[in-house]
Amino acid sequence: MPVQDTPEPAAPAISLHDFTDIDHSAEATYVAALEAFDRLPLLRELKALAIERTRTGPGRHVLDVGCGFGLETLRLARLVQPGGAVTGIDLSDDFIAEARRRAAAAGLEVDLVPGNAEALPFPDDAVDVARAERVLIYLDAPDKALAELVRVTRPGGRIAVIEPDFDTNTVNVPDAGLVRAVLAHEADTAVVNPRLVRDLRGDLTALGLTDVLIESRMVVFSPDLAVQYFAGIGTAAATAGAIDAAAGRRWTDTVEALHREGRLFGAIGYYLVTATVPPASSRGS
Ligand SMILES: C[S@@+](CC[C@H](N)C(=O)[O-])C[C@H]1O[C@@H](n2cnc3c(N)ncnc32)[C@H](O)[C@@H]1O
Repeated sequence: MPVQDTPEPAAPAISLHDFTDIDHSAEATYVAALEAFDRLPLLRELKALAIERTRTGPGRHVLDVGCGFGLETLRLARLVQPGGAVTGIDLSDDFIAEARRRAAAAGLEVDLVPGNAEALPFPDDAVDVARAERVLIYLDAPDKALAELVRVTRPGGRIAVIEPDFDTNTVNVPDAGLVRAVLAHEADTAVVNPRLVRDLRGDLTALGLTDVLIESRMVVFSPDLAVQYFAGIGTAAATAGAIDAAAGRRWTDTVEALHREGRLFGAIGYYLVTATVPPASSRGS
């Protein structure tokens, strides 16, 4: 799906830690960061593939787990008409309120409910498709959330999970040793499960799912998102003592200079995993 790369307003540094701090979820910085991620063309390709591989279309009932303020949820709500339905669930009351505002403004009927991915408030076999995008990496019990996605999806229905692998983070700061230190600190601290994608095929197969398909994209950051993100992670590494203060300043200066010169490059690997849910009698635990 071709997507226009629109210019972004300058914004303060972002930290992925804050997506787990749901009291701050509705802050403008994080809303803007999620919108900027959502615009990245290579991530859009994975979203489009998720739609295709889960056969999301008219008449389907789709559940978006960890829906945030509904960026993809609202698009799916259009796709399932006529006859379908979309439900979005998120732990953040603020994000659910914002998603409801956006759905109302767009004239879309979407069931948006606050709740926990690890204990979904829905019956077994309730939906045709359950999806989660950039959610499992933040959870203390991603295995429970995965089992819940499967439980609420009817036999023959599909699930889709889109998550990054933090050890694939890439940036063109020339000092390779400094890059290794900063990116290792980021991978080890930014989220709870930085390398979770590597186990998804095995986990889904153990749960009895079939047709497990994996697709990946190196998602290239837009220049403005790259400077926000990569400048911030150097500061975080210095604050935590993973690198010294001088190296932290050198990192930030380098990232900002590369951005000013139009040469900053950053990317991270994202994976889409889709699978088919078997009858309850064939499900694992
Ligand atoms: C990076 S955002 C992704 C939002 C959305 N899926 C998107 O791609 O725009 C992570 C989301 O997971 C939500 N979240 C974190 N822990 C959760 C949990 N235990 N149950 C449900 N949602 C959760 C956060 O509130 C946040 O909206």
